[in-house]
Amino acid sequence: MALQEFLDQLDQLVSEAETNFGAAESTDALEEARIEFLGAKNGKLKAVQKLMGTVEKQDKPVAGKTFNETKGRIESAFEVAHARIQGDGSDTERDSQFDPSLPGAGFKIGRVHPITQTIEELKDIMGRLGFSTVDGPEIEDDWHNFVALNIPDDHPARDPLENFYLATAEANSGEKNPVDLLLRSQTSTVQIRVMEKTKPPIRIISLGRVYRPDTADATHYPMFHQIEGLMIDTNVTMADLKSVLRLFATSYLGDDVTIRFRPSFFPFTEPSVEADYYWNGQWIEFGGAGMVDPNVLTAVGYDPEEVTGFAFGLGVERLCMRRHGITDIREFYKNDVRFLAQF
Ligand code: DAH
Repeated sequence: MALQEFLDQLDQLVSEAETNFGAAESTDALEEARIEFLGAKNGKLKAVQKLMGTVEKQDKPVAGKTFNETKGRIESAFEVAHARIQGDGSDTERDSQFDPSLPGAGFKIGRVHPITQTIEELKDIMGRLGFSTVDGPEIEDDWHNFVALNIPDDHPARDPLENFYLATAEANSGEKNPVDLLLRSQTSTVQIRVMEKTKPPIRIISLGRVYRPDTADATHYPMFHQIEGLMIDTNVTMADLKSVLRLFATSYLGDDVTIRFRPSFFPFTEPSVEADYYWNGQWIEFGGAGMVDPNVLTAVGYDPEEVTGFAFGLGVERLCMRRHGITDIREFYKNDVRFLAQF
């Protein structure tokens, strides 16, 4: 065989091998190509090597040298393809970077929302004072949100502009028992639900969402949370109410909190008070409270001559804002991670 013909065959073999190795997409395909070109028994390189015997004697040194170079080029083309396929599968690459002996950097798994954290803490504090937690529905009827709480028909708290009514009895007059339904405007509804089902003594709190169509600003939001407390027994007095609210305040805000009552009015308590806390140099209004009105006790089937009780309702956001120095209630509901991550 003429030398030139032999060299041409080697050239052709290199480009064919490069194309084949380059086209292989998997380890298996590449291995097949490797056997086709570099296979020790029937590989194409081996076949060309055999032709070397037919080259003229004086041409053998050139033929041998070129053959060896060709073999090297095909082998390195294989190495390149091999690295590419291993890298693509990237498992090996990742595994090789994973060092189990390095100290862990910790996993960020998110946080409990500050309002939920506050609720859990308030439950804890009141739990230590013997109050157990009860839940109530957010969709309420007229009876639990108003009537049983001694809120008369013409009371401004019933105004459609002050409530999220879902359906009115009038609109439902075709129904069997038409009632007004609304998103509860206060957690005092749960007092009624508990007393309807339970005999005194009672010591409960209820924490949850309430809804009022207020325009959102720094201190208002159409949905917010309240903590409601209720204690009923044979000899409950205003002094018990004050003690419980003081213990509650000092547990949550610290020992330097003072509490004061200002006369107020709520249809469901008599007498009624506004509870203020003195903390960090100022008086802050925290919510309403009072002795449960005899009309409410009667509405749930209790005898006001036998049992008395106190109730209170405080804003959860307000407590949390005061404790953490938050000045805008809307921050709670923007879901801005930069805000939430601080708690
Ligand atoms: N429900 C009242 C409100 O939303 C708060 C309140 C006042 C609750 C006095 C009470 C209470 O239980 O006794 O404004």
